[in-house]
Amino acid sequence: MTSNLLWVSFLLAALTLSITFSLQPDQPKVLLVSFDGFRWDYLYRVPTPHFHHVKEYGVHVKQVTNIFITKTYPNHYTLITGLFAENHGIVANDMFDPVLNKSFSLDNMNIYDSEFWEEATPIWITNQRAGHTSGAAMWPGTDVKIHKSFPTYYMPYNESVSFEERVAKIIEWFTSKEPINLGLLYWEEPDDMGHLLGPDSPLMGPVISDIDQRLGYLIRMLKKAKLWNVLNLIITSDHGMTQCSEERIIELDQYLDKDHYTLIDKSPVAAILPKEGRFDEVYEALAHAHPNLTVYKKEEIPDRWHYKHNSRIQPILAVADEGWYILRNKSDDFLLGNHGYDNALAEMHPMFLAHGPAFRKNFTKEAMNSTDLYPLLCHLLNITAVPHNGSLRNVQDLLSSPTPRASPYTQSPPLLHGSVKPRENEQEEPYAYFIGVSLGSIIVIVFLIIFIKHLIRSQIPALPDFQAEISQPLLQA
Ligand SMILES: *[C@@H]1O[C@H](CO)[C@@H](O)[C@H](O)[C@H]1NC(C)=O
Ligand SMILES: *[C@@H]1O[C@H](CO)[C@@H](O)[C@H](O)[C@H]1NC(C)=O
Ligand SMILES: *[C@@H]1O[C@H](CO)[C@@H](O)[C@H](O)[C@H]1NC(C)=O
Ligand SMILES: *[C@@H]1O[C@H](CO)[C@@H](O)[C@H](O)[C@H]1NC(C)=O
Ligand SMILES: *[C@@H]1O[C@H](CO)[C@@H](O)[C@H](O)[C@H]1NC(C)=O
Ligand SMILES: *[C@@H]1O[C@H](CO)[C@@H](O)[C@H](O)[C@H]1NC(C)=O
Ligand SMILES: *[C@@H]1O[C@H](CO)[C@@H](O)[C@H](O)[C@H]1NC(C)=O
Ligand SMILES: *[C@@H]1O[C@H](CO)[C@@H](O)[C@H](O)[C@H]1NC(C)=O
Ligand SMILES: [Zn+2]
Repeated sequence: MTSNLLWVSFLLAALTLSITFSLQPDQPKVLLVSFDGFRWDYLYRVPTPHFHHVKEYGVHVKQVTNIFITKTYPNHYTLITGLFAENHGIVANDMFDPVLNKSFSLDNMNIYDSEFWEEATPIWITNQRAGHTSGAAMWPGTDVKIHKSFPTYYMPYNESVSFEERVAKIIEWFTSKEPINLGLLYWEEPDDMGHLLGPDSPLMGPVISDIDQRLGYLIRMLKKAKLWNVLNLIITSDHGMTQCSEERIIELDQYLDKDHYTLIDKSPVAAILPKEGRFDEVYEALAHAHPNLTVYKKEEIPDRWHYKHNSRIQPILAVADEGWYILRNKSDDFLLGNHGYDNALAEMHPMFLAHGPAFRKNFTKEAMNSTDLYPLLCHLLNITAVPHNGSLRNVQDLLSSPTPRASPYTQSPPLLHGSVKPRENEQEEPYAYFIGVSLGSIIVIVFLIIFIKHLIRSQIPALPDFQAEISQPLLQA
């Protein structure tokens, strides 16, 4: 009798398991993609059907306020730490730290010194400390050893590696035996062409179309790997781009003696380190030099930039008006497009789209701060965020299940999942559901057969091998 009861409970357990299995997605997965220098309004410059597909079946934020300075390294570090530049320490693409007496420069990829990165803890480290695995394809900083570790999987930075190869790695990591739950994917365009052509150039149209094609490729590969409907995809960028002109150049050599200062970071935010005893001279010479250059002593830098409290911020900061270019003289490099300007300027803002089971569908939000992405990522990954400058509350309306502390999976009842998903008319979803249900049914049928066998023999059951381990303790009990 007891033995029969045990079999019945087994059957019930199997039934419950199969239902749970068929309705609950596994480990929450997040893929964060950055298309460098993709200004928010590029979405409307030319037809971008793949971006619009994501928008219609996911969420879109119209204005994302990124951080000052609106450069690549500072903003990419903010996206995965939630901190302002003065707090994460990557205050520019070119830096000098007077305490370390060391330089950091993007120009010669002199960026591998851990000490520059360790004022913050990027999300892949927190994710790995929580027992998960992460994978990064060229995301800035992911091939630097930070706090003694790398992402579980990463690619050493090499700009010649194609987009397709980067996507292939991401897919491989998400589908491996021990899959990653966090993927980071970076692509250099449309930033490079934006600098070269200037964002106003009609030649930017094809460049933007090309990015849309690449997004299409990524979506196709995710669908092929059966990841499209189970993965939370976030597509964003670090900054926008504005048109420059040789008619809007500010030449420092016209105002400053070369021997009185070191230029640490260039246009459009000049970070100036005066030589010993030359501070007043340099400051006075520059303060009213040009109507389109605003010059700050470090302590006067506006609070809203959160760009003051760090030894890597130099004693004098000269910020150009939008579209103006700072050079020492005309032999310095000049580019037709640039960024780095005040983060309040719309042209400096990136785009933001997301798609996946955790996100609402066809939902547009007016504005967010880029510091809020980090707590959102932590929420999606179900990991505890380290201190940061964002707030999940500001962005939880993007979520299909907006309860702050709980996971979107445990919160929404199974039936809701069923009714929300088919709205997106794609194939993988019913397929995954079908597999779940069939597997569940097979388990139930197998148990039924064993149960009937057992009844017929009513002896010590001959169990198939794969159950031996599970049933042994129960039979003894
Ligand atoms: C800083 O480093 C440079 C070499 O990079 C060296 O010449 C200089 O003496 C160092 N300064 C201090 C204060 O250690
Ligand atoms: C960078 O990638 C290209 C293309 O895959 C390859 O030919 C080249 O050897 C790589 N460079 C380095 C330094 O690994
Ligand atoms: C540059 O300065 C002039 C004179 O103050 C001003 O009229 C103009 O608006 C400034 N340009 C920008 C882009 O702010
Ligand atoms: C322009 O500035 C660079 C760097 O300070 C200097 O080497 C060069 O001689 C300058 N050129 C002219 C024409 O002054
Ligand atoms: C998304 O919303 C727009 C406007 O609200 C509507 O025209 C469109 O049909 C919606 N798309 C989907 C797939 O629900
Ligand atoms: C961005 O952050 C500022 C300062 O914390 C806050 O006042 C503002 O409301 C935030 N904006 C959005 C859209 O959440
Ligand atoms: C979230 O993490 C906690 C432990 O930190 C765990 O108990 C819970 O099951 C996780 N939720 C999901 C949906 O994975
Ligand atoms: C940003 O976050 C850091 C870390 O929690 C904190 O030290 C700093 O005061 C915050 N900045 C602002 C302006 O709240
Ligand atoms: Zn960039």
